[in-house]
Amino acid sequence: MEQSVQTRRIDGKQLAADLRERLRQRVAEAQLSPTLATILVGDDPASAVYVRSKTRAARQIGIDVRDHHLPATTSQDELHALLTRLNEDPEINGILLQLPLPAGLDEEALLDTIAPEKDVDGFHPVNLGLLLRGRPGLRPCTPAGCMDLIHHTGTSVSGKHAVVVGRSNIVGKPVALMLLAEHATVTICHSRTPDLPDQVRAADIVVAAAGRPNMIQGDWIKPGAIVIDVGINRLDDGSLVGDVDFDAAQGRAAWITPVPGGVGPMTIAHLMQNTVEAFCRQTSSG
Ligand code: GUN
Repeated sequence: MEQSVQTRRIDGKQLAADLRERLRQRVAEAQLSPTLATILVGDDPASAVYVRSKTRAARQIGIDVRDHHLPATTSQDELHALLTRLNEDPEINGILLQLPLPAGLDEEALLDTIAPEKDVDGFHPVNLGLLLRGRPGLRPCTPAGCMDLIHHTGTSVSGKHAVVVGRSNIVGKPVALMLLAEHATVTICHSRTPDLPDQVRAADIVVAAAGRPNMIQGDWIKPGAIVIDVGINRLDDGSLVGDVDFDAAQGRAAWITPVPGGVGPMTIAHLMQNTVEAFCRQTSSG
């Protein structure tokens, strides 16, 4: 019988509130005037909720927001023209193109259109390339939030074995690079990894970003591991669960993020941080 570990929850909601408050003070004290343009195409209810949350968070910090809500019938050319106009507008410091876009639009080409210095999501190939090379740039928000949550445990990442489950451009690949930059040994697993349970069993740090409810089972978790759950999965009964079986992880993980209230709020707080950073770099202030 393995010894039971006392499992502590990492409060992403509180950590995100603290980061937003620091940004609010910085904006007020240095009299910064950052402006974020948001673009929502179509009527996906979840996307509308996300954009509303981002807009509300921005305004509380003192970031001005220009919302662009376009119909699902908007063409590639129209979106390209809007992005080009926002790139050229000196009053706009950050551009958020909410994903996913309606079918038929080329997401990749539109993300490439956003000026890297205004790419507050950190999705542009230039910003991802800067991350790869370990140089300053706008970092993707969810991976940056994962790193904050790990740092909050007080555990050094250096020398740890980190297992990332999921290989998306938005989370899996960039968080693996961030862990590597802090000297973890990193394994990236995905749907074709044949021995996923054994890979996870070897992890001191697990970042679960597969988008499959309760996929990571309790007995896969190494006693004392840090578990960061990026999944936000809505079940048929309306409840939200992560990619990790949270209840089964109790007594095994040393630290675990809840869903909701873990990674999600950190993503929004980092979008705000990137917007303030983008403003400061563009205006040489702050
Ligand atoms: N859709 C889901 N997550 C995100 C995100 O972090 N940024 C954008 N732009 N769209 C998303």
